[in-house]
Amino acid sequence: MIFDTHAHYDNKAFDEDRETLLNSLAENGVESIINVGASLQSVKNTLQLIRQYSFIYGSVGIHPSEAKELTDSWMDWLETAATEEKVVAIGEIGLDYYWKEPEPQLQKYWFIRQLGLARKVNLPVIIHSRDAAKDTLDILKNEKAGEIGGVVHCFSYGVEMAREYLNLGFYLGIGGVLTFQNGKKLKDVVRYMPLSRILLETDCPYLSPVPFRGKRNSSLYLPYVVEAISQIKNIPPEEVIAATNQNARKMIRNIPYNNSICAG
Ligand code: NI
Repeated sequence: MIFDTHAHYDNKAFDEDRETLLNSLAENGVESIINVGASLQSVKNTLQLIRQYSFIYGSVGIHPSEAKELTDSWMDWLETAATEEKVVAIGEIGLDYYWKEPEPQLQKYWFIRQLGLARKVNLPVIIHSRDAAKDTLDILKNEKAGEIGGVVHCFSYGVEMAREYLNLGFYLGIGGVLTFQNGKKLKDVVRYMPLSRILLETDCPYLSPVPFRGKRNSSLYLPYVVEAISQIKNIPPEEVIAATNQNARKMIRNIPYNNSICAG
């Protein structure tokens, strides 16, 4: 079954039908989800979701664009959050130079601090990197992040950079962009990389695959991404689903499904 490794179901885009939608996922072939925090508020929301739904795991961390929220005491709070049951990663953390704010120095500082947190609590990282390929890579190398492990989510760079991140031992998150007309660069990456390093992700409510591009995304649309990978790799969709599920479980260190108190 499908493992969506990057979703934002706490987003207000789901306020109207969150419960109905989440309860419909299992019967539509979606087994597990990682809900990813990006701001302090969304980390709080993520903790709520993982307590409520047995099949949702959590990732706690502050997105580079929200880095100004962080302080030493909020880092202590994040560390406590990271030790909660079913929190399986630190993220999304990283660098985003597409937006001019906050300045790169500040982004780098809190990226490195959160990598340190991941090392301390022994969790993999979910990396957000946009228009910052070289700086992200340099930091991951300097911090020996290969020992920490994790995924570069919504991978947006070319084959050369893919090789670098794969050499560090990272997984690459592949989502709706793969189905876009202008998604050739990502198709080349998927063709190049081994299936054993691909993670499926939506980044929902964002980045819906074709034919839903521009509409609200959800894990229900992942079969379109699976189909695109299956065509590029020339293997059956079931094999893509099975392999990416296994990859996701390996990344989160095989924390078992149904390990929560509310699971039946
Ligand atoms: Ni995201």
